[in-house]
Amino acid sequence: MCGVVGYVGKEQAAPILLDGLAKLEYRGYDSAGVAVFGDSIKVQKCEGRLKVLHKKIKGGSSMSGTMGIGHTRWATHGEPSDANSHPHTSAEENVAVVHNGIIENYLELKDFLKNHGCVFTSDTDTEVIAHLIDHYHDHDPLKTLIKVMNKLEGSYALGIMFSENPGELYAVRKDSPLIVGLSKGGNFIASDIPAVLPHTRDVYLLNDKEIVRLTADAVKIFNTDEEPIKKDVYHVEWDVSSAEKGGYEHFMFKEIMEQPKAVRETVRPRVKRGKIVPDEFQMSPEDVKNIDKIHIIACGSAYHAGVVGKYLIEKMARIPVEVDLASEFLYRSPMITNRTLMLVISQSGETLDTLRALREAKRLGGRVLSVVNVVGSSIARESDDIIYTWAGPEIAVATTKAYSTQLAVIYLLAEYFAVQKGIKNAEQTAAFLDELAKIPAKIEQIIKNTENIQFLASQFAAAKDVFFLGRGIDYAVALEGSLKLKEISYVHSEAYAAGELKHGTISLIEKGTPVVALATQDELFDKIMSNIREVKARGAVVLAVVPENQPTAEQFADHVLYVPKTIPELTPSLAVIPLQLFGYYMAAERGCDIDKPRNLAKSVTVE
Ligand code: M6R
Repeated sequence: MCGVVGYVGKEQAAPILLDGLAKLEYRGYDSAGVAVFGDSIKVQKCEGRLKVLHKKIKGGSSMSGTMGIGHTRWATHGEPSDANSHPHTSAEENVAVVHNGIIENYLELKDFLKNHGCVFTSDTDTEVIAHLIDHYHDHDPLKTLIKVMNKLEGSYALGIMFSENPGELYAVRKDSPLIVGLSKGGNFIASDIPAVLPHTRDVYLLNDKEIVRLTADAVKIFNTDEEPIKKDVYHVEWDVSSAEKGGYEHFMFKEIMEQPKAVRETVRPRVKRGKIVPDEFQMSPEDVKNIDKIHIIACGSAYHAGVVGKYLIEKMARIPVEVDLASEFLYRSPMITNRTLMLVISQSGETLDTLRALREAKRLGGRVLSVVNVVGSSIARESDDIIYTWAGPEIAVATTKAYSTQLAVIYLLAEYFAVQKGIKNAEQTAAFLDELAKIPAKIEQIIKNTENIQFLASQFAAAKDVFFLGRGIDYAVALEGSLKLKEISYVHSEAYAAGELKHGTISLIEKGTPVVALATQDELFDKIMSNIREVKARGAVVLAVVPENQPTAEQFADHVLYVPKTIPELTPSLAVIPLQLFGYYMAAERGCDIDKPRNLAKSVTVE
């Protein structure tokens, strides 16, 4: 939810920290700060975007020192303000801390510290950590940090400096992401890989409760018994340009344009000689027949991909599927057994609600297969099996290419289960895979011609409410289209199963209300056209998304967007593209900050 960086090396730290924070600003952007160790620890921090801090410290040139930590914040405890910005320090500034996560017992700890005379200057949970470290400090940072970790409840990725340990940077994590970057010119910590990519492609992926000591030329990792840990270096294959805008005005638009490649790269390695080979995840026909239920858990758009999964797995493989919002899973006594396959979907692999639900599912005996984009993330590491979506780094808060690759994995899994259950024969699978292989080119066709969508967005830009309708699998896509629009353009929007509208919501339709109706399923086409008639009779202006073979939609809707024809199961991949573009252009027309929508952050590591 926040971005954490740290550097110790031979160069001036402040400009390096600012560059790293710029790559992490997607994680939080309501305030920023750095602490640099020169002769002593000096802190500069302020409310506002990173550029405000950048100006304040003159691009880093006003802070001298070759070690430092930095932070970009998404407020949880205390409003965005200078005082609540990180880094936080102990009273004498002998400890400085940056933190991503939430300390659940911070009030209790705060009382304890106040009773020992600590004076607090912010409303944050993080300041408690700085004082706690100072309180337990016994001139041995490793021992001190272990003591403090034993007191903390909640999630944290921390960068820490001690004034009496110049040239030594410390870091720990629990339930919040943190990596270590290794280079000859110095070593780094960061919440995410893009922050270190200009300097190195060699990283350590830290596990929970590991403690790292970094100096300019060494990195040592310890467990909570103070034993050194040996770790494999993970070499990042993707290019630094993947995490940069590359000439596009927004990451979101760039990522929409990258979808053909992302889907191709997700599907291709899993199709070998006409068969689906979903990586290491293999289930024999007996194993698949033994599954009595697939239970999908995810949040936001990943949940919407899961809803598509429910429709498709039940239809294609005839396995019952439940889909749960991860944040609700824990609170409804889910019925999980060792015959339940848990399918956990997450772009970041760090979403705390999803991670907690995964742990609960495992505790109840479910086998966990996760579909994750970020290699080595917490969800990936804690799952029994992983299928990575090869979308590459996704920076815009509004997901596009990761969602599309999640759909691609769902198609592969549904077909794989159908094959293992003997529902599909080799010829049918070949035909399905052949159609799937054509999806990237069909997405390309849609994104080559965006002018009409841009024009429609300009017509609807002043809308107060927009409704999205669909039946069957189109309803699942409507959910995603609606979220895309509201999260970046701030236009209120709802998605409805088209048949449900008349049970209440239709009372909200009035003259001029925009309604986006999805009608990609030939067998449901007439029903959706009837729903269009119903809303038009109440004054709605209807924009329909239909396949090329359905020009009759023009008789019903005010505007029609065509997508290429494909088989019914694969339509979500095509229907969602105009909806992503519609959300994007609506936000652009309304002058919104597309990549960094208000109140949001890319990775939600709080409950
Ligand atoms: O990283 P995850 O896929 O677990 O994230 C889940 C949601 O937070 C995410 O999809 C969110 O809804 C996006 N902002 C949607 O664009």
